[in-house]
This record gives sequence, structure tokens and C-alpha cells, in this order.
Amino acid sequence: MKKHRALHHHHHHNHLHHHNHLPHGKNQAIVVQKSSSKLVVVAIAFSTFVFVITIYIPLCHPSINLISYSSIFLLQSNNSKPPLISNDYEYSYYNLPSTSSSSSSSSPSSSTQHKCNIFSGKWVPNPEGPYYNKSCWAIHDHVNCMKYGRHDSEFMKWRWKPDGDGCELPIFNPAHFLELVKGKSLAFVGDSVARNHVQSLICLLSIVEYPIDVSKTPDFNFKRWRYTSYNFTMATFWTPYLVKRRVSDSGLASLYLDEFDEEWTTEIEEFDYIILSAGHWFFRRAVFYEKGNIVGCHYCIPDINNATELGMFYGYRNALKTAFKAITNSKDYKGITYLRTFSPSHFENGLWNEGGNCVRTRPFRRNETELEGDNMEVYKTQLEEFWNAEREGRERGLKFRLLDTTQAMLLRPDGHPNSHGRWRQENLTSYNDCLHWCLPGPIDTWNDFLLEMMKNELHLRSAEEETDKNLHSND
Ligand SMILES: *[C@@H]1O[C@H](CO)[C@@H](O)[C@H](O)[C@H]1NC(C)=O
Ligand SMILES: *[C@@H]1O[C@H](CO)[C@@H](O)[C@H](O)[C@H]1NC(C)=O
Ligand SMILES: *[C@@H]1O[C@H](CO)[C@@H](O)[C@H](O)[C@H]1NC(C)=O
Ligand SMILES: *[C@@H]1O[C@H](CO)[C@@H](O)[C@H](O)[C@H]1NC(C)=O
Ligand SMILES: *[C@@H]1O[C@H](CO)[C@@H](O)[C@H](O)[C@H]1NC(C)=O
Ligand SMILES: *[C@@H]1O[C@H](CO)[C@@H](O)[C@H](O)[C@H]1NC(C)=O
Repeated sequence: MKKHRALHHHHHHNHLHHHNHLPHGKNQAIVVQKSSSKLVVVAIAFSTFVFVITIYIPLCHPSINLISYSSIFLLQSNNSKPPLISNDYEYSYYNLPSTSSSSSSSSPSSSTQHKCNIFSGKWVPNPEGPYYNKSCWAIHDHVNCMKYGRHDSEFMKWRWKPDGDGCELPIFNPAHFLELVKGKSLAFVGDSVARNHVQSLICLLSIVEYPIDVSKTPDFNFKRWRYTSYNFTMATFWTPYLVKRRVSDSGLASLYLDEFDEEWTTEIEEFDYIILSAGHWFFRRAVFYEKGNIVGCHYCIPDINNATELGMFYGYRNALKTAFKAITNSKDYKGITYLRTFSPSHFENGLWNEGGNCVRTRPFRRNETELEGDNMEVYKTQLEEFWNAEREGRERGLKFRLLDTTQAMLLRPDGHPNSHGRWRQENLTSYNDCLHWCLPGPIDTWNDFLLEMMKNELHLRSAEEETDKNLHSND
């Protein structure tokens, strides 16, 4: 398949001076540096669009804050870089351990599941799906594809089948999940794809119970929900770069690569589970700081700063290191930390801002696509930094687990909203969304993975307790 990776446009014009008036000046964005008149038109149209979604909608529909969703339009990379040569890549390249043995523990093999890598597999038909519908209130209009005119439904009727005889990924069981997390708390830390994930989880759980909103602030980016019958709390933390950031009026991000984003790092200790994810925002132009000084940048602008081009992966790798460090340094944190791996977008037939879309209605077979270029590099960076953190965390008795959604999602070009999201209804300059995921849809599988991993955690623990008991009875 021919990939059309979209270009990332930049500007240093101040199209968006309005954004001083925004409730949060966090994720403003933006556009185009070329002076060709076509691009200027695009820039103006896009500025208008960003104005509408960041100001008009929040003002006129205060219950809906779309600001963070503007991320999707800023995500795409400059594909002038030659793609990596990755012909020989296989998903087993990193020799991913199965979830149940991803810790150091010499996992006593208490079940056959230990032989299965649940993250390597294929999509198979599942006529039973989906397990909730468009009436779930947690689904943001932007990803409520069935409410906004998507007519095909086959994309909701697949389940993930891990490789190997006897290897299965059970469909999410909400009652089982809620039993496991009784009295506990779970934080989703990252960008709008993390929020996409939490919405899926709320909808899957809604068959048993809906949570109540116990947010500490009206800020849509920091929500908290409580499942009263289970004393279970879930929270989302908006941190598209994971580290401290400052975004200028022109949308240029300054990233303090060695400084914690205290909006989430000060709350780590309140949680039993943290699901960390980020990546898409690092494709954008940014200036990198360390020890308070500029050390370099990505897509540098000579007349604004005089810094060295270090590339997005310099920023991404260091941001991941800092995020993990915040976790391993939290003295009272005893939880399990998941890194949810990169989920690629699927723009085809053009760049994201030139009519690119995603109209497929079936998953790819494994031989129809491959992880390559920047997507591959994001994924590799995640794995490398994850395993570094896992090793350091282990010394401190902390558990790090890889929620490795990349392969499954790479195979789902059919799962994105494309044009079936709410802002089609407004008279906006619209782009297609081939990055977030329709709900219900393939992203629901992330919770199948999550529950399976939590169950395996218990198997491990009971095996350890069994060993302890035996040791003591031998005393
Ligand atoms: C993409 O990168 C190339 C070379 O690094 C640069 O010349 C070009 O201006 C970039 N394009 C955009 C849209 O930033
Ligand atoms: C959607 O799900 C709700 C709750 O399960 C159910 O009451 C409703 O009938 C369903 N609606 C449709 C259109 O399937
Ligand atoms: C709810 O769980 C928290 C721990 O997350 C615990 O401190 C608290 O006592 C529990 N409350 C009830 C009513 O069980
Ligand atoms: C940029 O860096 C070069 C080489 O380090 C230096 O000669 C020049 O004066 C710098 N320009 C500015 C504006 O700081
Ligand atoms: C992919 O594999 C399937 C069988 O699994 C085969 O039918 C199909 O022709 C293959 N497609 C390509 C492009 O190789
Ligand atoms: C959107 O634009 C069309 C014409 O382009 C107009 O008929 C319609 O009323 C507009 N809708 C809204 C909500 O402004």
C-alpha cells in the first residue's frame, strides 16, 4: 500500500492572536510558513477553523471543549526524511515478552497464557460486536461516527486474535474489570488519543455502571470520574508532550525536556494504575530546553532562535525519559505503569490538509501494510525508553508494563472518523480525522488488552504468594 504521510505545516505569523483569550493557551497550533498564495489561503482558512473550534464552540457550547481535539490537525510529519529501511522488521524483532512475563519475575508458568504474545496477531470477524452504541454519553461527538452519518458497520465487528494455537484475547468483561479495580484508581496521562481510550472504557463499563463526575476543576482536560459501587476512580491528565511546556502566541512550543509537567506529576501518588501515552505532538515544530536553556529545536526557525536542529526524536526520547523519571522518583507511588504504544494515523489519497482521507471499511491483513518511517521510529523510541524505565523501576519495586497497541491499530485504517465527526455539522473548513478512533470501534480492544494484563498480574501475584506460603511452611 502506498502511504501518503501528511506534511506538517508551520508558520511564524501570528494568525491566532485570539488565543490569549482562551481558557487554556495550551495547544494552540499551527500553520504554514510558505508564502505561496495557496498556502496563505489555507493558513487563513485553518486559522478561522481553529478559531471556531477553540473559541466559538467553547463559548457557545460551554459543556463541550474541543480545544484539545485540534491536535489532530497538527500532527503530521514532514516526510522529507528518507524512510527507514525496515524490510526485515517483524513484530517479534524486539522479542516482546508476553504480558504475564514482562516483569523480571521468573514467572512460574501457572497457565498456558504465558506462551502467548497477545499483541501480535490479526483481526478476525466478530458478528457479536459492538458492545455498546452511540447513545453512550461518554462518546465525544467528534468520534461518534454512527451518530454523524457513518453508514457501514462492519468496522465494529472484528476482534483481535493473538498468534498461536490456543492464544485468545477475551472480549472485555465489565463486571470482571470493576471487581479487579475495586477501591483503586487509574490515571490516563497523555494527549487526545488517551481521552479517546478513556471514553471507550467508560462506554464498555456502562453496561454495569456509569461513573459520576467528581472532577476537581471544570477544565475538560482534567476530568475525574467515580464508580460509586466499586469505589473506583478514573482520571485524565492532558499533557501532550508529557513534560513542562510553554506555547507562544504563534503556536510555537517550548519544551522543557528535563522538567516535569507538574499538572500530572504532582498527582502520581494518588493512583494505583497509570497509563502513559503520547507521541503525535512531537511531529510539530518545537524548541527544546534543558536546564532552562535552549539546546536545540525541531524544524528550527532561524530568525526566532539560533539553535541546532535536533529532530523530533531527540525531543521525544528525552520527554519519555523525564516522564518515567517522574514516576520512578515518586516515593509513595506503588502502582503499575503502562506505556500505551503509538497508534498510527491512516491518511490516504492526499495529505491531511489536502483532502487526505480514510475511507476503507475493512482491516488490513498483515501483509498489506507495515510499520515504517517515522511511525516505526516513534515505536522503537517508546520500546527503548520503556525497557530502560522498566529496569530502573524494577530496582525500586515498581511495575512497568507495555500496552502494545501499535500492530493492532496499524491494521485498522477503517476505524477512524474520517468525515463522520461533529465539526462537519458546523460550517467549518473541515479536514478528515484519520487519527482518532470511532466509538464503538477498534480502540475498544485496548481495554481487552488492559483487562487481560490486569488478570495476568493477579496470576503472577497469586503464584508469588503461593511460593511465599510454601517457603514459610518450610520454615
Ligand atoms: C520539510 O523538511 C525540508 C528539509 O528538512 C524543508 O526544506 C521543508 O521546508 C520542510 N517542509 C515543511 C512544510 O516544513
Ligand atoms: C443502545 O444501548 C442502550 C443501552 O444498552 C439501549 O438501551 C438502546 O436500546 C440501544 N440503542 C440502539 C439504537 O441500539
Ligand atoms: C475507597 O478507596 C480508597 C483507596 O483508593 C480508600 O482509601 C477508601 O477508604 C475507600 N472508601 C470506601 C468507602 O471503601
Ligand atoms: C547564531 O549563532 C552563530 C554561530 O554560533 C553566531 O555567529 C551568531 O551571532 C548567532 N546569531 C544570533 C542572532 O544569536
Ligand atoms: C496476503 O495474504 C493473503 C492470505 O493470508 C493472500 O490471499 C493475499 O494475496 C496476500 N496479499 C498480498 C498483497 O500479498
Ligand atoms: C452552512 O452553510 C450553508 C451554505 O453554505 C448554509 O445554508 C447553512 O445555513 C449554514 N449552516 C450553519 C449552521 O451556519
